[in-house]
Amino acid sequence: AGSVRRDKRGVLTVGGRDVLALAEEFGTPAYFLDEDDFRARCRAWRDAFGEGADVYYAGKAFLSRAVVRWLTEEGLNLDVCTGGELATALSAGMPAERIALHGNNKSTQELERAIEAGVGRIVLDSFQEIARAAHIARRLGRRQPVQLRVTVGVEAHTHEFIATAHEDQKFGLPLAEGQAAEGVRRVLGLDSLELTGIHSHIGSQIFDTSGFEVAAHRVVGLLAQTRDEHGVELPEIDLGGGLGIAYTSADDPAEPSAIARSLAQIVDRECASAGLAVPRLSVEPGRAVVGPTAFTLYEVGTLKPLEGLRTYVSVDGGMSDNIRTALYDAEYSVALASRTSEAPPMLSRVVGKHCESGDIVVRDAFLPADLAPGDLLAVPATGAYCRSMASNYNHVPRPPVVAVRDGEARTIVRRETEEDLLRLDVG
Ligand code: LLP
Repeated sequence: AGSVRRDKRGVLTVGGRDVLALAEEFGTPAYFLDEDDFRARCRAWRDAFGEGADVYYAGKAFLSRAVVRWLTEEGLNLDVCTGGELATALSAGMPAERIALHGNNKSTQELERAIEAGVGRIVLDSFQEIARAAHIARRLGRRQPVQLRVTVGVEAHTHEFIATAHEDQKFGLPLAEGQAAEGVRRVLGLDSLELTGIHSHIGSQIFDTSGFEVAAHRVVGLLAQTRDEHGVELPEIDLGGGLGIAYTSADDPAEPSAIARSLAQIVDRECASAGLAVPRLSVEPGRAVVGPTAFTLYEVGTLKPLEGLRTYVSVDGGMSDNIRTALYDAEYSVALASRTSEAPPMLSRVVGKHCESGDIVVRDAFLPADLAPGDLLAVPATGAYCRSMASNYNHVPRPPVVAVRDGEARTIVRRETEEDLLRLDVG
């Protein structure tokens, strides 16, 4: 995170507080989020895209009421993909017109709630959903702005992307089979829906804009087809999220300004060659806004040196607070946070307390050989998809999220307790 450094004693600090004091006050494991860094990243995205575009923060990466308030203040919009995320956004006062609702299987209740609240955009994902949303909007006497999510036949991850004739996945209407064009035709024929644009999301943790180029080319192609077939120029396109962050020093993400410039160039070029007015662009970064702003603080429990292999360092959390290593083979770094050490490096694997051997937080790391129970470890870049994907596996209560700023730390999501867990068990 932006303001993570060490004090004179060598103790890691964030937002003007040191981790010894933070651990004392909030316990471990816990996520500590640098509020200034979060706000600065929001502004960087906002400023990079400017007045002619919209930035929707993808709430799935991490959402809480405090986050919603920061977004509202810093001028970002919000992408939600469930009723729960929508409820969080509305309860924290995000104006409904700044919210977009996503999802491949929105329930009738979710659609009703969103339309009733007056969300600015619903991204429709299937023929059945087009009909369902139209019916609900008509019943509520509304004309709901919608975008249509299409699959452009590009799937991008990290440094590569693959283009296939049609994608074998659940999201959106495929362009390749003419389903997307048929979706456009159907929405345009419905009075209770207002088709404002086309949406595409090609993947996550992407470092290379060439996948977006193909996506923009194909989305603009559909806009041109829509103009030719229906005489309608749709005013918006959304190119989704997916911009990568540095989990380890091997990753080298681009700045929002460079990404904005490159996406705007691609869209301008494609529109010029199709003879279309440039539509309003929006993007939906989640990870790139919140990921780098938080770290997880753990306390070391047991150490188990295995001769000729490595030392297993067990911490007081694990796959319940960070499933990404187990699920995606994700790479993280780790640092001794409570002190510095001159001891030689020791090949380590940081593991959790759960009852399975895949419960790994950091697969390969060098930690000082004098590491001992009670030491604190920090795993950076856990702001995205860690608390939001946390579980109660083994009945472990989920850790709190603590926002730190100007020497003050406050809980924005409290630690779960055993009572919280037992409250659900009504047998
Ligand atoms: N927009 C749409 C329509 C999306 O589906 C997603 C992510 C985003 C925006 C935000 O993507 P981001 O900028 O955060 O990469 N759990 C996985 C990531 C799943 C992302 C799903 N959709 C992970 O931990 O890496």
